[in-house]
Amino acid sequence: MPGYELINSLEKKALTDIFKQGSVFFAHGFDKIRKKYHVREFENLCEKYFNAKYCLMVSSGTAAIKIGLKSLGIKNGDEVITQSFNFIATIEAILDAGGIPRITSVDESLNMCPIDLKKKINKKTKAIIPVHMLGFSADLQNIKSLAKKKKIKILEDNCESIGAKFKKKYLGIHGNVGVFSFDFGKIITTGEGGLILTNDKKIFNYCKQYHDHGHLNIPTLSRGNDKVKMHGFNYRATELQGAIGKVQLKKLKILLSDNKIKYNILKKILEKKFLIRKIHKDTLPNYDTFIFFEKNNQKKKRIINLLKRFGLGTKNLPDALKWHCSYYWKHCLNKREIKNSLSTKKMLEQAIAIPINYRVKALKYERLAKNILKLK
Ligand SMILES: Cc1ncc(COP(=O)(O)O)c(C=O)c1O
Repeated sequence: MPGYELINSLEKKALTDIFKQGSVFFAHGFDKIRKKYHVREFENLCEKYFNAKYCLMVSSGTAAIKIGLKSLGIKNGDEVITQSFNFIATIEAILDAGGIPRITSVDESLNMCPIDLKKKINKKTKAIIPVHMLGFSADLQNIKSLAKKKKIKILEDNCESIGAKFKKKYLGIHGNVGVFSFDFGKIITTGEGGLILTNDKKIFNYCKQYHDHGHLNIPTLSRGNDKVKMHGFNYRATELQGAIGKVQLKKLKILLSDNKIKYNILKKILEKKFLIRKIHKDTLPNYDTFIFFEKNNQKKKRIINLLKRFGLGTKNLPDALKWHCSYYWKHCLNKREIKNSLSTKKMLEQAIAIPINYRVKALKYERLAKNILKLK
């Protein structure tokens, strides 16, 4: 997830320019002393880039999920279904919105298993959160048709797969609401930050008010005299994040094509001997991680050591497995969900993730893959 690898003088200039434009770091108001509205400009650029009617920048991806769930009307006791290969933030957002997290297993793409999803849906289910993990789309075809049939809302957690597509359209706009993260590990980064995408004006208006203490932001009123209809919270992004976001967005295309080249080098060599992660029909990954499977634990260790010798970690698998597998989240989930997560834990224990980095040369990936093939 290499957005930070491309930080250079352009981001620095974007920040120093803010000082020349009135030094306003706040996204709203101060109209008389500012020349720019960076967060708003970034939101407009995202709307065009990802073809969403409405985008709202917020303080983090975690905040974006929580706000998104609240906009879908999640309240105390509602069940929200998500998946066992995930990041803890999704569960925390469900709990914070008052929901009860339910967990599905994952399929060969390591994303939500639609067959298990069908079994988990019941009268209390109010939303489904498919999480497009590490660059790959979930099986949206089947998840969407199930949700439609059962009249359940979808929130797409696309924090980890910005730039990936389903049916030629960017992930994040296929459900009722979608979210991105721009934290420091993501393909484009604003240090911390998140985005809410939706084509539904009602959802957008709710999110806009909720993330900013309920402010209606009526243009003819000063902020101090602004009106309010509901309580909210403070999940605003700053102008510093907005300004950086505009620069990083311009770099996304370069990163996506670089990822694809390196991913395909690894694939061509490693698929000769290893089972690799499934790509669902009609989907296009952002290719920022290459995942393959090795059942033999000793051999897996040898591969991981080789990766270390090449100066690469294994990202979440297995480096940060405990933060990405719900089997380990006894502090957030009940016993039933922990038990449901066991099969995923076993599957993930056989997975190895190679991060695709911009600064690591394609030739190095080729040498790495050839050396992995030679290991006994
Ligand atoms: C799948 C997923 N959801 C949510 C988040 C939370 O995003 P943030 O770190 O911006 O709060 C992350 C971040 O790592 C993530 O990977």
